[in-house]
Formats: sequence, C-alpha cells, structure tokens
Amino acid sequence: MDPSASGLIHRLAEAGQSHLLQFWGELSPEEQADLNLNLQGMDFQEINGFFKNAMETSSSSKQEKMDTRMEPVPREVLGSVTRDRECLKDWELAGLRCISQSKVSALLLAGGQGTRLGVSYPKGMYDVGLPSHKTLFQIQAERILKLQQLAEQKHKIKCCIPWYIMTSGRTMESTKDFFSRHNYFGLDKGNVIFFQQGMLPAMDYNSKIILESKGKLSMAPDGNGGLYRALGNQGILGDMERRGIEFIHVYCVDNILVKVADPAFVGFCEQKGADCGAKVVEKNNPTEAVGVVCKVDGHYQVVEYSEITLATAEKRSADGRLMFNAGNIANHFFSFSFLRDVVQKYEPKLQHHVAQKKIPYVDAQGQLIKPDKPNGIKMEKFVFDIFQFAKTFVVYEVLREDEFSPLKNADIQDGKDTPTTARHSLMSLHHRWVLNAGGHFIDENGRRVPAIPSLKDGTDLPIKCEISPLVSYGGEGLEELVREREFHPTLMIDGQGVHELVKNGV
Ligand code: UTP
Repeated sequence: MDPSASGLIHRLAEAGQSHLLQFWGELSPEEQADLNLNLQGMDFQEINGFFKNAMETSSSSKQEKMDTRMEPVPREVLGSVTRDRECLKDWELAGLRCISQSKVSALLLAGGQGTRLGVSYPKGMYDVGLPSHKTLFQIQAERILKLQQLAEQKHKIKCCIPWYIMTSGRTMESTKDFFSRHNYFGLDKGNVIFFQQGMLPAMDYNSKIILESKGKLSMAPDGNGGLYRALGNQGILGDMERRGIEFIHVYCVDNILVKVADPAFVGFCEQKGADCGAKVVEKNNPTEAVGVVCKVDGHYQVVEYSEITLATAEKRSADGRLMFNAGNIANHFFSFSFLRDVVQKYEPKLQHHVAQKKIPYVDAQGQLIKPDKPNGIKMEKFVFDIFQFAKTFVVYEVLREDEFSPLKNADIQDGKDTPTTARHSLMSLHHRWVLNAGGHFIDENGRRVPAIPSLKDGTDLPIKCEISPLVSYGGEGLEELVREREFHPTLMIDGQGVHELVKNGV
C-alpha cells in the first residue's frame, strides 16, 4: 500500500495535513491499509473550508449578542395544548387521517455518541429500569405500532408509519443488530429504514486533523444537522418520495416521553399549511440553559441561552410568562417538499457550529495524551439550523411533564436528565393517566394514595406504574381497564392485562 501512488501525499501536503502520515512506517500492513482507505475517502479541502467557516462564525457570534434583533413567536403561529384546548381534538383527527393515508413518517435522530451517559452502546438500547425493562427503542417502536392501529381503527384502512433511523458510523451496526435480534419489536422490517450520517475529523486550533492513535484519525458524527446531507446521499429522500410520504416527524432518541409521529402535532401543522414546525416546552426559569425558538431579523431560529443577556432572558410578557419562552426540544415537523428543498438547495449554506472539546491525541513522539482542557474542536450542524428557510413556520407548545424528559447523564444523586428522572417522568405520566381514567392507587395500609403526592415524608418518588404503549398511546382507552378500581403499586398494564407486582422492588 503506497500512499504516494494514489496522489494522497500530494493532496495531504496541499491541505496542510501531511502529519497524518507521520507514523506510517510504524504501522502494520493492516493498519496502513485502514488508514489509507480512510484518507482516500476524505475531501481535505472541503474539511479545511468547514473549519475556516465554523471558526469565523463562532468568533463573530461571540462578540454580538442577539438581544436587539430578537422577537418572540407571534401568537398567530402558535398552537398550545393548554391555551387551545378546544382545537386539540380536531388537530388529532386531522393527524390521524394523514397517518391512515400512510403520508406520515417518523424520523429518529440516533447518531449521537451519548458521551455524557457514558455507555458503550447506542442510547436507544438503554434500559432506564422501568418495571418492564423496555429500552428506549422498544418504547418508541410500540408507540408507532399503537398509532398505526389507532389510525386503522378510525379509518378502516391499513396504513403504516415508516420509521427512518439515523445512526452514525459508530452506532449503525449495533443498532441494526439490536433491532434484528428483537424482531423489529413487532414492526414490519421493511418499514424500519436505517441510514448513516456523516463523520468529520476533530481538528486542533491550528486546523490540523487530530490523530487519536498512530494510524487512526479522531472522528465524530457531524451533528444532528448532518441529517440533511445524509438524507440526500443515502437515498432516503427518494425512499420517502416512493412511499408517498408528505409529513415527517423528526425527534431525538433520548426523550422517553416522546410522542412519536404525534397526530395532534402533525394535524396542527397540516391544518396551518406549515412546511416546518417546532414542538416546544415552556421555559419557566430565565437562567435555564435551553435554546428558545424566536424570530431574528424576521427569520425563525433557535437562540441559545449563551447568546442573550440576562436582562433579555428575564423579560416578561403581559401575561407574566417569559417573553422568550419557547424552549426548543429538537422535535420537529417537516413537509416532504420543504425537506427536499433543504436537502437540494439549502444544506450547503448551513455552517458548522464549533464545540470545544478535550480530545485525546498522539503527540509527535507517538504518546497518547488525554488533555485536561479543550485542545481542539468538533464541528457539528444542528437539526434546527434550517428554520430560517421555512415559508410557513409554526410552533406547537406542549407540557413538559407530559412530553419531554431526556436521558442525557449517568445517574448521580439529584442529577438532571438521568435514567432515574426519565423513569420517574414516565411512571408519573402513567400514574396520571390511570387517575384520569377513574382508577385509584392504595398504599400498603389500604389507604387511597392522594392524587397530589405529599412530600412530608421527604420522598417524592412516583407511584410505580407502567402502561405499555401497545395498550395506550397517549392515555386513551384506559377507562374500561381501570375505572372505579383500586391498585397497589407496582401496577403494570400490558397486552396481557392489568397486573399488580407487589413488592417487586423495582
Ligand atoms: P445530544 O446533543 O444530546 O448528544 O443529541 P448525544 O450524543 O445524545 O449525547 P452527548 O452530548 O454525547 O452526551 C441530541 C440528539 O441528537 C442526536 C442524538 O442521538 C440525540 O438523539 N445526534 C446528536 C445525532 O443524531 N447525531 C449527532 O451527530 C449528534
């Protein structure tokens, strides 16, 4: 294997990346072959261009706060599950109609590395410790199955919600293998479509690609906005077109409460004639580090907490809510034609964002160094970077406790967004579903547990209760199972019926 024969040495020199071959002579023939293959597939001029643009954008955006250019989301483009209650049923019916016509697909962003959670396998395979021990992937698959069934029952027509799953070079094989071992959780294999996002090398501040070992570049997925490039170059857009998909619900793998292909959200967007929609939760606390959806210079975008001053973050509207309160949860609706325009026209205009990271590297002596402060950058595009191109953009506000509880971090006492908080959010939602359907819980002394738990014993543990998505997608259909009945936790409701698992120590 001779890199000079293929012109690689020349290409590397031209791009200022010759150091990537500095250990060539020390590599085994297999390592040489792997490195050669990786380098041959890379466009160094393009990567250098990404680096230059990303660094320039990042340094200019640091200097200038957004405050004076921002406007909140106007009421006329906003739909809210609390403020527009009377419309909810209609939106849901409209969404179910679209689903029954097989026009709706779900698209899962699962290409992240899950570094904060710290497991070696894809996050969707994580079991947060529910009584059923279902993984995030299984919960989502079953929600899709149930929704198909609801649409079929309503419209007496067979339908399907194709599920597109974006993985990365690091998660593709294990994800596919997991689905295959679990028989696609009951979904039709042909309607679960995996595709792979791109990877980019990590670079140091002098625009040199970082080697993580003597023969291996430090590579990372190109952000969840890598979606748009992947949709084009992996043939996914074509697949959607062939299937007649008109509406796409895009969401993140880590939100245990996600309403996959949410009919009310889809129906709201469809009725508004939207090409792009963002589901948001209300930001209540000015200092919460969440990006907000708003208008900047007349175009929609997500503005990060760090891009505004505290004074702006604290501004309130006449109704007492924060003025910039549309908290982004990376949960979006796209029309197919908008997505096609994005892929074909706008994607190249998107800039990479810079994430400063501590990136392990080999130094000139070939020693592996684990830096204790950031020594380079990873470049990422974000899924919401395309809002600016929408012609009819809408925002749909939902309740955080019903729809958003992401799994980001490993468990630590009182931690945020951990397996424990995810598990508790789901069980507490299901507890409320049982109460709403007329059921009750009783404690070990036979006393009814109050609907609003008391904190006087110092615990705020939720009632242990889990309802299979195969039984209920969003709390519907539970009356005949629970009305006027009393249950001891742990309560499980699944396809086999209603079970009480007393003292199982979950
Ligand atoms: P996060 O930004 O929270 O990243 O992703 P992560 O990979 O899950 O976790 P950390 O930051 O490494 O700890 C939000 C969503 O975007 C997806 C993730 O899989 C998750 O669903 N994502 C992220 C991608 O699909 N591709 C990426 O390159 C990055």
